[in-house]
Amino acid sequence: MARQVRLTDYPDGQPARSFWAFSNDDLPPLGDNEIKLRIDWVSVDPGMSGWITNKPSYMPPVKLGAVMRAFGVGEVVESRSERFQLGDWVTGFLGLQTEAVVSHKAVRKIDTTSKPPQLFLSGLGMTGYTAYFGMMDIGCPQENDTVVVSAASGAVGGIAAQLAKQAGARVIGIAGGPVKCAYLTDELGLDAAIDYKAGNVGEALNAAAPSGIDLYFDNVGGEILDAVLDRMNYRGRIVVCGSISQYADFSAARGPANYMRVVTHSLKMQGFTMRNYMHRVPEALEVLAKGYADGSLKFREHILEGLETFPDAYEMLFDGRNHGKLLMDLRGDH
Ligand SMILES: NC(=O)c1ccc[n+]([C@@H]2O[C@H](COP(=O)([O-])OP(=O)(O)OC[C@H]3O[C@@H](n4cnc5c(N)ncnc54)[C@H](OP(=O)(O)O)[C@@H]3O)[C@@H](O)[C@H]2O)c1
Repeated sequence: MARQVRLTDYPDGQPARSFWAFSNDDLPPLGDNEIKLRIDWVSVDPGMSGWITNKPSYMPPVKLGAVMRAFGVGEVVESRSERFQLGDWVTGFLGLQTEAVVSHKAVRKIDTTSKPPQLFLSGLGMTGYTAYFGMMDIGCPQENDTVVVSAASGAVGGIAAQLAKQAGARVIGIAGGPVKCAYLTDELGLDAAIDYKAGNVGEALNAAAPSGIDLYFDNVGGEILDAVLDRMNYRGRIVVCGSISQYADFSAARGPANYMRVVTHSLKMQGFTMRNYMHRVPEALEVLAKGYADGSLKFREHILEGLETFPDAYEMLFDGRNHGKLLMDLRGDH
């Protein structure tokens, strides 16, 4: 019997734990062109907060009572598809569950012969692709640019910051707490780190970026965006990847207070989702896989064991207890 996490109601703000229900339901028999998967890893993402908001967005909200949407990787254990054999590994929206029956069109095959499968949820998955296209296609860091990345020791931020550094930029990471800040300078080799929980971010930016900021990769929005925006250089670029400080209440999300700086300094501010880039995934995968193989890119993972950890895992993203790509290892659940 498979085990699932289901959404019971749409929250107003962040969901209480009662919004998640665990179930043990049999899977349906396989139809034509369907495969059965044993799901070993699932990804826990800030974007889930948007998927459980009952409003039109870039994806429809999760239906009430349905298995919660999540990226996963799994192995094919039964197949009625010519595209997949037993033992193939796949990734896609597999849901928060230990097993699934899915259409063969819903998944993509991954080559796990020389890589751990969960890597396709972190550096070699959507997280890595988001960092790559956001930083390299929209941000376009140039040599000697001053680049700032927020939530910089997180899953997307950590990779985006490393890519900017490899492009020859001077990179400043913003993160919460001394451990994450030490990771940014000591492990990722960033030029400076700012602990936004320890003091005034604006003053810290004045010290770390005395000549202003050319490119900001924004993961958090809110007050940190305001502080960076105030220090953007003429013709600077702001990549709006996310706005996690505002996810507790989408209807009350605040925009930048000093947005006239976009006008007065001819700034470019652009958001994106991976929907814009799915056709270019092979390009990102090539760069990220090469960086992984030669050790020039680090993909930090934060792993929790078992499906039961999900309600706590979800909350960790918003109180900063995760450090790296947050993943659930379901191998002990089978
Ligand atoms: N556009 C896209 O297609 C796309 C795709 C994936 C992710 N994203 C966005 O990218 C951002 C990062 O996602 P991720 O998966 O890489 O997660 P993550 O950074 O691994 O985890 C979230 C981190 O955000 C920080 N945070 C939480 N609340 C905060 C607040 N109020 N103020 C400042 N920082 C806060 C915490 O780190 P600290 O300890 O440093 O506070 C936390 O660890 C999110 O905004 C997400 O929505 C966008």
